[in-house]
Amino acid sequence: MTAPLIIAVDGPAAAGKGTLAQRLARALDLPYLDTGLLYRATGRRMLDAGLDPATTADDQARRVTLDDLSRTDLRVPEVDRAASLVASQPSVRRILVDIQRAFATRHGAVLDGRDIGTVIFPDARVKLFVTASLAARARRRWEQMTADPDAPDREAQIARVAHELEARDAADSSRAVAPLRAAPDAIHIETDDLSADEVLAEALRIVARMTR
Ligand code: CDP
Ligand code: CDP
Repeated sequence: MTAPLIIAVDGPAAAGKGTLAQRLARALDLPYLDTGLLYRATGRRMLDAGLDPATTADDQARRVTLDDLSRTDLRVPEVDRAASLVASQPSVRRILVDIQRAFATRHGAVLDGRDIGTVIFPDARVKLFVTASLAARARRRWEQMTADPDAPDREAQIARVAHELEARDAADSSRAVAPLRAAPDAIHIETDDLSADEVLAEALRIVARMTR
């Protein structure tokens, strides 16, 4: 029997990992897990409890529930930073490994994050590393966040987003445990000049090739 299909989608912040992973899962009828939500929910819990996310977050990581993952206040700048801080703690990562592996074991899955192809599923059949320039990623994240495309200080706002993405990527790439890094056998998709539809089409071609 062939092992269930696991597709790892890693890359820096706002590269389009989640968008691609969700669409791939739909196209291939696989379960989808946004692993960043686990770190976001842990960071959110630290903030709500009045705790500094740079301090030990084990207790909050253990308490993450499905309800926490569906909260609507996980994608705010404060939680971006808190998630990255709790994610640098080896003990927190250890606690969250099991949930991620268990999710995909039976039926396979598409998972997006930072360490899916390197740590969580080093044997995943397909590993994609999605990238885009800092400028493109900042513009995309700004468009996701803002309700006003005609804001007079638009460029200054985008520059601030770029600054935050850069700081978070630097922290995620330089941490000792499970840093943001492409697996040696990951296939890179550079998305600056591609629409989300084109990225999906490219990823589906790669999947077809790798699973023949
Ligand atoms: O959507 P975005 O790329 O901005 O972030 P995310 O994927 O939701 O991840 C939030 C934070 O969680 C990241 O900055 C990482 O510090 C951490 N993370 C991680 O360490 N490992 C993962 N597999 C997923 C997220
Ligand atoms: O998960 P990650 O933080 O890597 O990125 P995302 O939340 O999927 O979002 C990136 C944003 O860029 C979304 O609004 C997408 O519609 C948009 N986008 C994309 O994902 N891929 C492209 N090739 C172009 C735009």
